[in-house]
Amino acid sequence: MAISFDEKTRIFKLDTATSTYLVKIFDEGYLLNLYYGPRIPDVNVRGRETRPANASFSLANPVIGENGFTPDTAPMEYGCNGAADFRISALAVRNAAGDSVTDVRYTGHRIVPGKPGIPGMPASYVNSGDEADTLELYAADAVTGVRVTLYYTAFRDLGVLTRRVRVENGGAAPCRVERAFSCCVDLPDMDYDLITLPGRYAKERNVERRRLAHGVQGVESKRGVSGHAQNPFAALAARGADEEHGWVYGFNLVYSGNFSILAECDFNDSTRLIAGINPTDFEWTLAPGEAFDAPECVLVFTPDGLGEMSRIFHRFYRENLIRGRWKHEKRPLLINSWEAAYFDFDTEKLAAFAKEAKTLGVEMLVMDDGWFGRRNDDTSSLGDWTVNEDKLPGGLAPLIERVNAEGLKFGIWYEPEMISPDSDLYRAHPDWCVHATGRTPMIGRHQLVLDVSRADVRDHIWGMMRRVLSSNRIDYVKWDFNRNISDAASALLPPERQKEFFHRFILGTYDLMERLVTEFPDILFENCSGGGGRFDPAMLYYSPQIWTSDNTDPLERLSIQFGTSLCYPASSMGTHVSACPRTGFETRGNVALWGTFGYELDPCKLTREEKAAVRAQVAEYHRFYELTHEGDLYRLISPFDDPCRAAWQLVSPDRRTTLVTLVTVREQFRAGVRLRLRGLDPERYYRDEATGEVFSGALLMNAGVVMTRVARRDGESAKLVFTAVEEQA
Ligand code: DGJ
Repeated sequence: MAISFDEKTRIFKLDTATSTYLVKIFDEGYLLNLYYGPRIPDVNVRGRETRPANASFSLANPVIGENGFTPDTAPMEYGCNGAADFRISALAVRNAAGDSVTDVRYTGHRIVPGKPGIPGMPASYVNSGDEADTLELYAADAVTGVRVTLYYTAFRDLGVLTRRVRVENGGAAPCRVERAFSCCVDLPDMDYDLITLPGRYAKERNVERRRLAHGVQGVESKRGVSGHAQNPFAALAARGADEEHGWVYGFNLVYSGNFSILAECDFNDSTRLIAGINPTDFEWTLAPGEAFDAPECVLVFTPDGLGEMSRIFHRFYRENLIRGRWKHEKRPLLINSWEAAYFDFDTEKLAAFAKEAKTLGVEMLVMDDGWFGRRNDDTSSLGDWTVNEDKLPGGLAPLIERVNAEGLKFGIWYEPEMISPDSDLYRAHPDWCVHATGRTPMIGRHQLVLDVSRADVRDHIWGMMRRVLSSNRIDYVKWDFNRNISDAASALLPPERQKEFFHRFILGTYDLMERLVTEFPDILFENCSGGGGRFDPAMLYYSPQIWTSDNTDPLERLSIQFGTSLCYPASSMGTHVSACPRTGFETRGNVALWGTFGYELDPCKLTREEKAAVRAQVAEYHRFYELTHEGDLYRLISPFDDPCRAAWQLVSPDRRTTLVTLVTVREQFRAGVRLRLRGLDPERYYRDEATGEVFSGALLMNAGVVMTRVARRDGESAKLVFTAVEEQA
């Protein structure tokens, strides 16, 4: 069992491949977070419940008395508001009396094999019952009747613990949940750096590292979506921890809405981290008997540095989050019309793309924005999901037939949660957009947001999508989302429930996406939000890949892909070779090879040399597919550490093949670079495919390879491939 309970000490022990997590049922039913760190065999961690000498005005529970315990400094398993724990709280419920004092204590537990899902919400899953155990820890507030279930799933063969929370109103009067974080972790020290992934449009997920300080720090979104500005990810890395060494705790919320990940260091020099729905503009009313489910948080602990944390996240997301046909089946290599044509296309142009793309080895044509309503630019028609027959005479069928006749599959673009004021949908239902009473809603990219918290709106949109998807041979859908949400309110919610809007909106999005993957399980679904503005684990539950950024410049992509790789696998990162002139074709291909790989250019405009380069890249895409989609990633030189270059390595699951890529961003006169490879078998021998030379894995990982004559100029890149040989040459 990955989870056990010791009756004598009243301690739960949750073991993953790399970590142990201990929860103690203390006196008076207080639940304490005794330990979270490297695996340990025993449970008697001492001294965490006792009041420290520096306790200042810390208060006591009158039953237990003033000696030894105070909620102010104890490692509370799920810190509540208003009952003498003065740190950031994970739970606050306003009760019928009007106060928000919340104090839940242990009432029972259950340990079950496997992992239950969350109704209506994305969550990781087990492939077989013995992969993980789940602890359901029950706690209740004796005064209000509020009941809480803390769910923990420990994955036996991976360093992953998932957590989530259900809050139920077990009282006789309605109550209002003001905050219900998905997880709360109390660590006994504060010698950590907080690592987060801030960004913006076209510059997503930069790695930022700062030292924890006393007080509250963290990242949040209140844009209605996870957003470009911050990602629902944070790591606490022990001071000095790097790619290969040191304790690292990673936290990633399986949520696409307003989130909050906060760390507080208190006077006692300990750290509390909470992750969950952002309490700003959130509240959920529970009638007696009703329950609220908070989203899941994935926790990864490793004593072996950030690189290992990433590899654990990657394996977990590939195996236990991404679902459906395209989880492991080889995905078609696509060409997308956006950067090639923008809104300026018709059947003839797209058919010509398909014809030319076929000669290059491309397997699918994706028709991006512009095929519906009267959409000739971005000022109209979102919501009118009927074919623009001026561009596509006779509808989609004639085009798809021609694309299929070339042997290519066909994909299409949607932005389902949006509505243009200049659309038939808006003219028919002006009240369907998200808007607050008496205000003209803010506009972004000439569009408003549809209120998908409403079932009638969702049914209408789904009806329109379904009509197109079920009457045509469509193999792929790109689902876009191109603005943030302001004027947050729903016309159908009563005033006292308006704070439920943001979360209900996200539940509506999940409902639509679930309909898509359920009714069309063969469709390959790629998520997108103005590039990577909704790149989060929840989206991976529906779509195995997400468009990483609208910035397709390979040098700019380096930092974007490095940052994204902190928790998201290469198989999920949409990466295309575009007509970006800043580097040659080779570097564009080498950078795009670290991801799903595809094209975003007009194939008819390629020169003969470029076409030859594309064919070579397509061959490499096939050759390295397993490495990029199932292999392990090692970040060798990060562009965040070295402004002149970046290098990374992919290692096949059997450790027999590795692909090493080096990109020179800025030339340094005569500077060679030594790359110490990672992840190889030290005992095995590997052949350098370019030179035929054979080296031991140990040599490659310790002495390394010196790259002096390759990738010397700005924007140049080089690949090395090593393959295992049976014997030393
Ligand atoms: C934003 C996306 O990121 C682009 O790839 C493209 O699909 C445009 N939207 C279309 O409007």
